[in-house]
Amino acid sequence: MSPKELLALAIAARAHAYAPYSHYSVGAALLTRGGKVFTGCNVENASYGLGTCAERVALATAVAAGEREFEWIAVAVGGADKARPCGACRQVLSEFAPELRLVLGNGRGRSMVTRLSRLLPMAFSLREPPASRRKRRPASLKRRGR
Ligand code: THU
Repeated sequence: MSPKELLALAIAARAHAYAPYSHYSVGAALLTRGGKVFTGCNVENASYGLGTCAERVALATAVAAGEREFEWIAVAVGGADKARPCGACRQVLSEFAPELRLVLGNGRGRSMVTRLSRLLPMAFSLREPPASRRKRRPASLKRRGR
């Protein structure tokens, strides 16, 4: 599936957005390594802080279906500005796919492609960072087995 095709699915998912408070509808489509697509839309709540972003809805749906490896996400919004996933979604996506690629669309048929590692450099993780980013530990700490 091409990024453009994935974006078309995100645009379709956007139609289901429940955004009566912000009136800002968002759709997302997440592509697994195996080629399956899971979509999401933002789901707001009268208790504002309980609203969920489209990206996290798509991710949670995919994980609940047993998927954990993702290659692309498309995010679609309306208006002239292209979609920009919020910081919370960047971190949550990074948990499963730090190298995720993104296609971010606006409401006028324009889009751009980027990578999550560019949108969220130095993402928090409890996993070992890649060797290139690991700091050498002082010998004094190593000797004590810390
Ligand atoms: N929202 C998303 O669903 N995804 C984004 O990338 C940015 C923000 C939602 C949250 C809220 O329902 C509305 O857009 C306005 O912030």
